[in-house]
Amino acid sequence: MRGLYRSFGYTGEMPSGVVGRVEVTVTGRRVVRRKSKIKGAGFGVYAAQPFNKNMRIVDYQGELISASKSDWRERRYQAKGMIWSFTVSRRLVRDGNVGGNIARFINHSCKPNCYSEIVKHTVWIRAARNIKTGEELTYDYNTGGEAGIQCMCRPGCKNKI
Ligand SMILES: C[S@@+](CC[C@H](N)C(=O)[O-])C[C@H]1O[C@@H](n2cnc3c(N)ncnc32)[C@H](O)[C@@H]1O
Ligand SMILES: [Zn+2]
Repeated sequence: MRGLYRSFGYTGEMPSGVVGRVEVTVTGRRVVRRKSKIKGAGFGVYAAQPFNKNMRIVDYQGELISASKSDWRERRYQAKGMIWSFTVSRRLVRDGNVGGNIARFINHSCKPNCYSEIVKHTVWIRAARNIKTGEELTYDYNTGGEAGIQCMCRPGCKNKI
């Protein structure tokens, strides 16, 4: 999958005033990585064009490893307050920290505008509704609070990711 990924960029100003290096994903969608609107969350990923509901925006890339190998890596990531592992199946996990793409910078929200879909070993991030240019992309990590990170998706959110 990684070899098929097309990505190139330019710096430009989008209609919403969001500035950054625009990347074109494998599905031809334009997205940009910039500081997140979620307090303390670091980077986030924004729409650099409108997306229609259910569009495949980007695939979550990363090394495909066994769940047991991932357990070990996840412990190290979580000790630093980070989540990079996307569960693909009972036995397999994609580690976005190794060989990952821009999708690894998409943050969690309890009221997201995207959702994930797993097709064989590919993890698609899809639009959960129509998304406007300049909106930050989010999906539900569905961690069940395992990493113990306070969710900051909105002021007063009580959930953990
Ligand atoms: C897959 S990374 C996303 C990219 C990350 N924002 C960055 O700049 O590297 C997941 C990490 O982002 C942060 N994060 C994502 N969603 C968050 C949220 N709703 N509230 C607080 N932190 C969040 C947490 O540090 C989490 O471990
Ligand atoms: Zn939340």
